[in-house]
Amino acid sequence: MPVLYNEKEKVFALNTKNTTYMMGIADDKYPGHLYYGKKLSAPCGEYLMRTGESPLVPSKLKREMVSFMDSFPMEYPAFGIGDFRDTCLTVRTEAGHRGCELHLDSWKITKGKPGLTGLPATFGTEEECQTLDLIMKDPVIGLKATLRYSCFEDVDAITRTVLLENESDRPLYLEKVLSTSVEMDNDRGFELITLSGSWARERNIIRRPVVRGKQGIGSVRGESSHQDHPFIALVSKGTDQDKGEAYGFHFVYSGNFMAQAEVNQFDMVRVTMGIHPEGFTWKLNPGETFTAPEVVMVYSDEGIGKMSRTYHDLYRSHLIRSPYLHKERPILINNWEATYFNFTTEKLIAIAKEAKSCGIEMLVMDDGWFGHRNSDNSSLGDWFVNEEKIQGGLKYLVDQVNAIGLKFGIWFEPEMISPDSELFRAHPDWAIQIPGREPAQCREQYVLDLTRKEVRDYAYESVAKILRSANIAYVKWDMNRQLTDIGSPGLAADCQGELYHRYVLAVYEMQERLVTEFPDLLLENCSGGGARFDPGMLYYSPQIWCSDDMDVPERLAIQEGTALCYPLSCMGAHVGASPNHTTGRVAPFETRGHVALAGTFGYELDVTKIPQEDRDMIPAQCADYHKYHGLIADGDYYRVDSYYENHYFDCWEVVAKDKSEVLVTCVEVWNRPNFKSRKICFKGLDPKAMYRLEGTDQVYPGDLLMYGGYLLPRAFGDLKSTLLHFVRE
Ligand code: DGJ
Repeated sequence: MPVLYNEKEKVFALNTKNTTYMMGIADDKYPGHLYYGKKLSAPCGEYLMRTGESPLVPSKLKREMVSFMDSFPMEYPAFGIGDFRDTCLTVRTEAGHRGCELHLDSWKITKGKPGLTGLPATFGTEEECQTLDLIMKDPVIGLKATLRYSCFEDVDAITRTVLLENESDRPLYLEKVLSTSVEMDNDRGFELITLSGSWARERNIIRRPVVRGKQGIGSVRGESSHQDHPFIALVSKGTDQDKGEAYGFHFVYSGNFMAQAEVNQFDMVRVTMGIHPEGFTWKLNPGETFTAPEVVMVYSDEGIGKMSRTYHDLYRSHLIRSPYLHKERPILINNWEATYFNFTTEKLIAIAKEAKSCGIEMLVMDDGWFGHRNSDNSSLGDWFVNEEKIQGGLKYLVDQVNAIGLKFGIWFEPEMISPDSELFRAHPDWAIQIPGREPAQCREQYVLDLTRKEVRDYAYESVAKILRSANIAYVKWDMNRQLTDIGSPGLAADCQGELYHRYVLAVYEMQERLVTEFPDLLLENCSGGGARFDPGMLYYSPQIWCSDDMDVPERLAIQEGTALCYPLSCMGAHVGASPNHTTGRVAPFETRGHVALAGTFGYELDVTKIPQEDRDMIPAQCADYHKYHGLIADGDYYRVDSYYENHYFDCWEVVAKDKSEVLVTCVEVWNRPNFKSRKICFKGLDPKAMYRLEGTDQVYPGDLLMYGGYLLPRAFGDLKSTLLHFVRE
C-alpha cells in the first residue's frame, strides 16, 4: 500500500517505489513533517519527531505553546498563534482578527486521485495512485482544511494541495493560502536551484547556497512569468546530474506564485510554495470551499538528472491530456519572424508552397491578420479578418494552403484589448482597471477582465467563431502583457483581492472549453515567448512556446533549464533566421536544426528568402524529426555537459526506455584550439550491450561508451553541432 497509517507510531507514510514521505502526529492533533527521502522500511514516529527535545515537548504545550509553535515542523502552518516563520495560511475573521489553529480531526485514504474543481492537476487511476486526506479543523473560526496528498507509486512523485471550507455562519477572509510546506534539517547544506531570467532569457538555471533567513522567487505579474518559474529544487551540497539528493517542488499554476526556502534559528529549512499573497484576499462565505492549486514534489537520491526524468515521466503520463501527447506534431512554419505584420494572402501562399516542397507540414499565420493591425498598437479584441491583407478571406486562404498540402494554424491573443479597437470603444469598462485611474499600458494594450462572464464569453466566442469558419488545425494562444491596475466592477469591494486568481481560473475555463469543443485542435500556449510556460498550461496544451529567442547559445540555456522539469515533447522549438533577431548572432543552419530537434520542431523564417544551401537542408531536417520524434518525445533525457556551466560545450542525450537506441546532440559552442578529441561519457545505456553508431560500421560496448567515453573530434569553428545515433546490435 503506498499510503499507510501506523496507529502505534501515529505516523502516516506515503511510499513510492523509491521514496518515503512521513508525517507524525504530535499531541494527537498536530501533523508534523518527519521525513522525506529515500524509501524507509518502517515507520518511526517517536524517534524522528524528537518530542523529547526541548522546545518540541508536546506535554509542555500549554505552558510553552509559542516555542512549540515556533519550532514544530507543522505540515500546514498557520499564522497568528506563535509560528513566526513564513506560514501557509492567514485567515482574517469579520471581526478583523488573524489567528488560526488547525487540529487533526480525521483522515481518509482513497484509491485514485480526485480532480481539483476549475484547476489543472495531475491525474491517475485507482491502480496508479492513492490519496490521503488529513481533515483539520479550527472550531474557533469554523474553518475546515483538508490537506490532500496523492502518491504516484510507480513514478516516485507526490502531490499536495489544500481545500479550505468555511463551516461557520460568517464570512472568512483568506489572506494567504499556500499549497505546501515541507520542513527539513538543513544539515546537508542545501543549495537552491531556481529557473530565472527575463524575456528572451527564460528559465536559466541559478544555483545558490541556502542561508539563514528567507530566499526565494515569485511572480506578482498575473502570470507565471519570464522572470521566475514556479519551480524550486533543494539539492544537497555536491549534488550533480548523477549523484546527490534533489528535492523538486513544481507548482501547477499559471498566475502569481511564491516559492521560498526559509532557514530558521534551529537550522531547519522550511520550503513553502503557493499563490503569492501579495494582492490576494479571498472571501470565503459560509459553506464555500477554496481549492488551492497543487504542488508536485519529487525526491531523487540519484542527482538532478533522475529528478528531471521523474518529472518528465509524470507529466507525460499524468498531466498532459492532449491526444497529441505521443503523436508526431505537424512540422510547422510560422510567419512571425518571416514577415512580422507585413504579409498578405499572396505572401503566405508563397511561403506555404516553398515550405511544402521542403517537407514542412503546416503554415501558422501569426499576429496581424485581424482588425486593422499593422503593428502591435491596435485591434486586439477585434477578431475579424483584415481582408485588405487576407484577400479572399480566411477560408479562402486556409483552403489554398490545404490544397498545397499543408495544414493551417492561426495566432490569437484572446485575453487582450487594444485601446485602439472597436471592442474598447464599445466596452471601455472591459479592460481591467481601477476606477478613477487610467490603467497602465504595456505593448499598447490592456487586459480583458475575464472574471466577468460576458467578457469571457465574448473572448471565447471570438476564437471559436474563427475556428468554426475554416479548417484550422492549430492555435497559438498568446498573452503579451502582465496584469496591473487590479480592479473589476464585477467584484464587490471585499472581493477585489480575488481578481488575480479568478483571472487564472477564467483562462483555464476558456481553454477547457476550447479543447472540449475542438478535440482535434493542436493548442500551443505562448506568452511573449515563455512567460506562461508552466505545468498549469500543460494540462490544456501539449506544447508551449519556450521563448522568442532562437539564438543557439541562448536557446541551449533556455532549453536546458526548461528540461529540468519538462519533457522535450512539450518544448516549442523552431529554427530561426540568421543573424538571429534577438541577439544578431550568426549560427550554422545545421546547428539551429539540431537545437530545435530537442523540442516540437518547426521553422520561423522566410523560407523563400533564405540561402539555397540552408533551404536544401530542410528536407533532411524534417526527415530527422520524423525519424527521431518517438525517441525524443518519450525517451529518457540525460544531460551530459552544460554549456551554461562550462561556457564551451553542450551535450544531451535521449535514451529509449528499453535502452535500444540513444540520440546524442553535441554543440561545440565556442571552439578552443590545440586540445585532444573530446571524451564524452554517455549515460543510461545498457553497459553489457553493443551499440553501433548509425551510418558506420563502428560498434562499441555500452560500458566503454559510458565509462571510457566516446571520442568526439573537435569541430573547427564556433557553434558546430553533431548528432550521433547509436543503435543496440
Ligand atoms: C509573442 C510571441 O512569443 C511571438 O512568437 C509572436 O507570436 C508575437 N507575440 C506576436 O505578437
